Amino acid sequence: MEVRAPTAAEFRSISAMWQGMVTELGPPMMPKQLAGLRDHGVVVLVAVDDRGVLGFVNHRHLKRKEQTTIYEIAVHRRARRQGVARALVERVLNDSPHGRIRLKCIASNPACTFYTRLGFQLVEMERSRTGKPMKVFSMERSSDGL
Ligand SMILES: CC(C)(COP(=O)(O)OP(=O)(O)OC[C@H]1O[C@@H](n2cnc3c(N)ncnc32)[C@H](O)[C@@H]1OP(=O)(O)O)[C@@H](O)C(=O)NCCC(=O)NCCS
Repeated sequence: MEVRAPTAAEFRSISAMWQGMVTELGPPMMPKQLAGLRDHGVVVLVAVDDRGVLGFVNHRHLKRKEQTTIYEIAVHRRARRQGVARALVERVLNDSPHGRIRLKCIASNPACTFYTRLGFQLVEMERSRTGKPMKVFSMERSSDGL
């Protein structure tokens, strides 16, 4: 498995994958919008192998807050529980100039268990725009990795 920047065709795969995960990720982005995120400082990475795109992560290194924020992360249903999301988070943490990742997750999403397993700490509770409880997670880079 390789983690890298997506090709034009892979932006289409990400968009198609996102359309099947609206409950967890919110309204899907079209391939052009995804490709344009770079102009706003957002980095998109894909995990790929010979099956194609297995998962993706959108994130941004925020200088002012001295942290890297993950906006979306998702893995194709067929490729779950194979360490794909772990590899994506590991890469984001390694690339982070701040060595710190923060993200928000709807409290009822099973993904919260994934973050806890990886070593994220619950640092805050918030409400989403629609009033749903959200967990704010944070993790710092350590010398022994994830
Ligand atoms: C959350 C998500 C990204 C995890 O991707 P993944 O590639 O399956 O995760 P990994 O295989 O790297 O999981 C690592 C560990 O996290 C834990 N974990 C992962 N998914 C889990 C789940 N649904 N429930 C409980 N624990 C989970 C497990 O301990 C797992 O290790 P194990 O399989 O050896 O037990 C994936 O389920 C997904 O795409 N969900 C839909 C989109 C989403 O909710 N994104 C997050 C929005 S905040």
